[in-house]
Amino acid sequence: MTKQPHLPKLPKGFLWGASTAAAQIEGAAAEDGRGASIWDAFAATQGKIKDGSTGAVACDHYHRYKEDIALMKRLGLDAYRFSVSWSRVLPDGVGTANEKALDFYDRLIDELLDKKIEPWLCLYHWDLPQALHERGGWTNRDVARWFEDYAALLARRYGDRVVRWATFNEPGVFTTAGYAVGYHAPGVADLGAYLAAAHNVNRAHGASVVALRGADVKGQIGVVCNQQPARPASPSDDDKAAAALYDLFWNRTFADPMILGGYPEGLQPFFGPFVQDGDLEAIRQRLDFLGVNHYSPTYVKSDPAAPGGLAQGKPPEGAPVTMMGWEIAPKAFAQTLIQEAARYKLPIVVTENGVADRAEVGEGGEVDDPLRIDYLAKYIGAVASAIESGARIDGYFVWSLIDNFEWAEGYEPRFGVVHVDFETQKRTPKRSFEWLRTEIKRQ
Ligand code: FCB
Repeated sequence: MTKQPHLPKLPKGFLWGASTAAAQIEGAAAEDGRGASIWDAFAATQGKIKDGSTGAVACDHYHRYKEDIALMKRLGLDAYRFSVSWSRVLPDGVGTANEKALDFYDRLIDELLDKKIEPWLCLYHWDLPQALHERGGWTNRDVARWFEDYAALLARRYGDRVVRWATFNEPGVFTTAGYAVGYHAPGVADLGAYLAAAHNVNRAHGASVVALRGADVKGQIGVVCNQQPARPASPSDDDKAAAALYDLFWNRTFADPMILGGYPEGLQPFFGPFVQDGDLEAIRQRLDFLGVNHYSPTYVKSDPAAPGGLAQGKPPEGAPVTMMGWEIAPKAFAQTLIQEAARYKLPIVVTENGVADRAEVGEGGEVDDPLRIDYLAKYIGAVASAIESGARIDGYFVWSLIDNFEWAEGYEPRFGVVHVDFETQKRTPKRSFEWLRTEIKRQ
């Protein structure tokens, strides 16, 4: 075997974690009274998911959570970020709660605490109840109230045990992909719908923080944003201007109003018409931390036919990319962390970072994934260098613990440090798992 890289020393108390999402791992879609989410409806629509798959079974984590927590323990994790399926606990999105579903998250949280792993609960990782979508979903201003009630329910139930709360996972990704481009659920491609949805997500965030604080939850409260530099796909003036506008939409639409209290000037012509009296005050609530998810820089080109005139370009010729087409550029990660820490002045946790490959179980039962070891070593190294430059970064959560349902990409991209055989549900820790375990121990 080739020599394995070592990680630099991270500060004392630095947290090691892994992240997952309900819709990507739980399965048990029709069990114990769960209601449908927009991802069930989307995946059931012909042609929306690359391999024609759905999340109906996924990793069957609903039944195998103890085995998965045992893997976390073996990896040496301090914390685990999961999301709650809104339509599992509230099948209609509002109204009567589903006790069996609430019991599941009780068992999950208690098992984590028993194994001395901090439960970090994310309220929303993209799976809106279908029943609410049918009432306009994120484009309906009432969604802020629906989300507030949902947050209050979870706060009452788990507020004594959850160590950190995140309101949203990557609001930029699910509003852009779901409402502007239509590549994700609910499959809407309409700039106006996107703008309404994004502003309502901001309002829902504010309302949910008030609900959590009002219930006196013990844990810290934050939000998780996907922050990545937007670079012009060519040196043309049009592409440069497109990248600058894309940067505002991608990196500032949520974090700015939530943390700083307003949309940046360049976005005001877009969001202005949606902002009503009192909205901005309600959106900005005190937060304890900012979760940053990051995978790569993005390349942008101007395209008058695309929503907002902004389209995805490609990384420069010859740049190293993953199977997702995402550039491997750890320096851009370090810069992003330094920049976000300076702008928002909140402690940062890297709540997602990782890489997809197609590594399968070999003849000897091993899963050899050298790309992941190399990527993680470089990207965790970038975290260390951002810390050295003065950014406060309190932890690193790998995406993901186990291979899972990668949204519209189906099951082909494998992001886990643990391989999952989706026929048998057998879990096999990959070489990267053993590497990370050793490196966490060496800290
Ligand atoms: C992030 C998502 C996560 C997963 C990774 C690969 O944008 O938050 O659910 O799909 O990308």
